Amino acid sequence: MPRSIHRIAASGAALLFGAAALTACGANDDSSGGDSADGGGDSKVIALLLPESKTTRYEAFDKPLFEDAVANLCSDCEVVYYNADQDEAKQTQQVDTAISEGASVVVLDPVNGAGAGGMVQSAQDSGASVIAYDRFIAEADYYMSFDNETVGKMQAEALVEAMGDKGSILMLNGAPSDPNAAQFKAGAHGVLDESNVKILEEYDNPDWSPENAQTFVTDQLSKYDASEINGVYAANDGQAGGVVAALTGGGVAADALPPITGQDAEVAAIQRILAGQQAMTIYKPIPIEAETAAEVAVALANGDDVPNPTETGIDQTDYEGVPSYIFTPIVVTKDNVADTIIADGFYSADDICTGEYAKACEAAGIS
Ligand code: GAL
Repeated sequence: MPRSIHRIAASGAALLFGAAALTACGANDDSSGGDSADGGGDSKVIALLLPESKTTRYEAFDKPLFEDAVANLCSDCEVVYYNADQDEAKQTQQVDTAISEGASVVVLDPVNGAGAGGMVQSAQDSGASVIAYDRFIAEADYYMSFDNETVGKMQAEALVEAMGDKGSILMLNGAPSDPNAAQFKAGAHGVLDESNVKILEEYDNPDWSPENAQTFVTDQLSKYDASEINGVYAANDGQAGGVVAALTGGGVAADALPPITGQDAEVAAIQRILAGQQAMTIYKPIPIEAETAAEVAVALANGDDVPNPTETGIDQTDYEGVPSYIFTPIVVTKDNVADTIIADGFYSADDICTGEYAKACEAAGIS
C-alpha cells in the first residue's frame, strides 16, 4: 500500500482511513498475484513472525492467542508461524519463506525494527500487507503495541517510590535493536533523571537475555559492595530473573534484595513479587494485542475494511505516520496480582501458587 495514502489517513478522519484500508485490500486482489477466496478456494495465508523465545510471552501467549483468534475469525485462513530466536538474518529468511508460501498478510515482530525495512518491502512487493506487531517498523502498513514509553515511566516511578527517592541503582535496558527498548529507556530516564536516585552503571543488553543480565550484575559486584546497590531497573522480567540470580549468588539474602523492576508479568516474576523478591512488573494483556492483530490481518486477507477504533474499542492513533493501535499497560505489585493477573485469567492460582509460593499467595489473598 503506497505510504502516501497513510499520510492522508494520518491527517484525515476515520472515513479516510477506511478508504485507505479499502485501497490496502486492493493489494490483495488477484491482480497482485495474492491468494484470494474468490480464486480456487485456496486458503488465505497469514504469516506470524516473532523475535525470540527466551521471553516466555511469545510462545506461551502471542502465538497461541493469535492462531486461535484467526481460526475463530476465518475458516479458510492458514497461519504460518516462525520464531527468529533473536537472529536477524534468520528472520529475513523466514519472511522470504512466508512470501514463497503465498502469505498475503505478514504480522512481523522484528528482531531489529530499524533494519526491518527490506523485509517489509519484499513482502509489500509481493502484494502482501505488513503489520508491525509489538515493535515499530516505519515502512509497515499498520502498527500495534503497548504504550512503551509509559511502560518505562511506570517502571521507574515504581522503583523511585520503593526506594524512597534516594540511593543508587543499576540500570539494565533492553536490546538496542529493539525499538521498544529505546522507548522503555526514554520513559524510565524521564523519571530517574528528575529523581534523587543515582545510576551507578547502565547496560543495554544486546539480546534481552537473562544470562547477559546475570553476568552484568555479577561483574558490578566486583566494583561495588552489594550494600551500594539500593535498587535495580530491569526492563523486563527475564532480565530481572538474571539480576536476582546474580545478587543472591553474590551473597545477598533472598529476603534482603533491593527493589527490582520488570515487565511481561511472567510466572516466575509474579512468584518473585509475591515472595518479596521483585518490586513490580508491567502486565501487558497480550490477548488484546494478539486478537486485534488477528482482526486486522483477517480483514486484510479477506479484502474487508480494517476494523475501526469503535469496533476494537482501542484509541486508534498514528505513530510516526503509520496507522496504529496502542494499548494500555498495567503496573502489577503484590497488592493487585489477584485483581489483575488472576482476575483476567492470564494465569490461574495453580500456575502461580506452587510449592514455596503457596504461603505468599495466601497472604496476597490468592487461592
Ligand atoms: C519487547 C517487548 C517486551 C519484551 C521484550 C523482550 O519488545 O515489548 O514485552 O518481550 O521485547 O523480548
